[in-house]
Amino acid sequence: MLRTHTCGELRPEHVGREVTLCGWVDTCRDHSGVLFVDLRDRYGRTQVVFAPESGDKTLGLAKTLRSEFVISVSGKVATRPEGTVNAKLATGQIELRVRHLEVLNPSLTPPFQPGTKELPGEDLRLKHRYIDLRRAEMQQTLALRHRMIQIMRDYFDRQGFIDIETPMLGRSTPEGARDYLVPSRIQQGAFYALPQSPQLYKQILMIAGYDRYVQIARCFRDEDLRADRQPEFTQLDLEMSFVDADDVIGMVDELVARLAEEILGVELPLPLPRMTYDEAMERFGHDAPDLRFGMELVDLSDIAMEAEFRVFRGAVDSGGRVRGINAKGAADRYSRKGIDELTAYVVEDFGAKGLAWFKMGKDGKPASPIAKNFGDDLLQKIARRMDASPGDLLLFVADRYEVTCKALYGLRKRLGAELKLYDPAEMHFSWVVEFPMFAYDEEADGWAAMHHPFTMPRKQDLELLATEPGKCRAQAYDLVINGSEAGGGTVRIHNQQLQQQVFQLLGIDEHTAVERFGFLLDALQYGAPPHGGIALGIDRLVMLFGRLESIRDAIAFPKTQRATDLMTGAPRAVDARQLRELGIKTTG
Ligand code: AMO
Ligand code: AMP
Repeated sequence: MLRTHTCGELRPEHVGREVTLCGWVDTCRDHSGVLFVDLRDRYGRTQVVFAPESGDKTLGLAKTLRSEFVISVSGKVATRPEGTVNAKLATGQIELRVRHLEVLNPSLTPPFQPGTKELPGEDLRLKHRYIDLRRAEMQQTLALRHRMIQIMRDYFDRQGFIDIETPMLGRSTPEGARDYLVPSRIQQGAFYALPQSPQLYKQILMIAGYDRYVQIARCFRDEDLRADRQPEFTQLDLEMSFVDADDVIGMVDELVARLAEEILGVELPLPLPRMTYDEAMERFGHDAPDLRFGMELVDLSDIAMEAEFRVFRGAVDSGGRVRGINAKGAADRYSRKGIDELTAYVVEDFGAKGLAWFKMGKDGKPASPIAKNFGDDLLQKIARRMDASPGDLLLFVADRYEVTCKALYGLRKRLGAELKLYDPAEMHFSWVVEFPMFAYDEEADGWAAMHHPFTMPRKQDLELLATEPGKCRAQAYDLVINGSEAGGGTVRIHNQQLQQQVFQLLGIDEHTAVERFGFLLDALQYGAPPHGGIALGIDRLVMLFGRLESIRDAIAFPKTQRATDLMTGAPRAVDARQLRELGIKTTG
């Protein structure tokens, strides 16, 4: 070893010892001929001191040190003089009085200092990721990620799961995104698809009798990126045989409790709360509701029918709904201009036609320019239904059910943050279950799988497959943390006829089904056990447990919103020769 200790290790008990530290120069300060350097590595920072006792040669060399030089220093550990102890630093009671200095490698002036409080632009951080990853926050995050994965591996190992790798070069899996394709050189014109998930392989493993499978799996999806999406991401993927939805949920409940205990120091009461999809949409307008605060959606459609107000009646008359939320005590927070902004938000971002509002007056009456459309009785009814008291702001959207869901979900989320209705440090875990099997795809004018086409309907809904597929509910479950979908899974179809029926409903004809999933349909006929599973997004879990703003901060080498790697410059054009070998011509 080139060092005796790390930069985070020395304490008062080491005083008097001869030690050698290696690390990066974080900061240099020259106090009239005495040089103070903060030496940094992954474990921490230690103050090292170059004084006249260090000798002319060492002191002279020390004066050439700059930020991010890699150095080795040897000398004696000493207590810091009184008044210079740094309580914020783990090593803040001691310093190293240097006798010998070696510059292991100088550094160019870095594009930014890893120690700075103000972060540079993200592009610069991503381009020089090796500098960015030296920042304490990034190092803590990657250590957190490592610990979370260790806890997962340990947990599933104890539960008898076996970790099995599945191919990267495979066939397209229908998780609903575009595939990343890899051209085959040997079979020109043929392509592998990088896995969107190991879905089909893990089902095959159940058919093969492996009973409990787990994998930390890389997945690839060519989709529009957002703050919580990457083109390449990691799942904690698992599958179990001879189970129902409750068993899979229970298995993940225990894992989540263990993560909460070991990472957050919080004891989670189990089972985690569950809510059906229909209830989530009704109460929160979304299938991944943020349950850290209330402000639930309230239906007003019946009251709306009694009013003269054209906007409300019109919506209900044409099969829609009038729903609203009560922003408690927020009447004074939002001026006319503020409400105009909220209106623009629901109109532009969610396609609502407008936003109706009332401010609860001191007299307990809802006041608004639209109040004249309602009699006193109705105003009182509205106030009661909304559980309104003086000072509250009531906001309503009248529209198709889906639009009221989207707009009020967006509004609730925005107001929750603006009105600080929750403690950002708090974490809330819950399940949303019994998703619809299918969603109607207007564009394709047909049914699409809500989760994926291998999902088992609820037993009591099997008959609806033939009659009213839209009403059919699935044995599906999503893990929701603070309003984010952290994981999703289902019990699978283990019967070939049923699988084929679902394919048909999805508009996948027999020929296409055999062509794309023939191997699964075959396998289902060779003794497929009942099975089910789930995948949790590890990057999202790290983002949530680490309270990070962006998924990119949870990944060592992430891609930008445009799916590029700014450090390596991928993706890039390739040599004409490489393309020729693959039999590929580009048109660009
Ligand atoms: P699903 O598609 O719901 O299910 O994915 C599971 C979880 O993976 C995470 N995730 C992502 N994370 C980052 N970037 C992305 N682009 C991204 N897409 C998904 C989410 C999500 O909840 N095979 C099924 C699982 C199963 O049925 O067992 C599947 O992949 O946290
Ligand atoms: P109007 O009569 O169209 O001027 O609308 C009167 C008020 O109702 C305005 O504050 C609009 O923002 C609001 N409003 C219009 N359409 C809707 C709607 N579909 N849902 C809720 N409020 C609406």
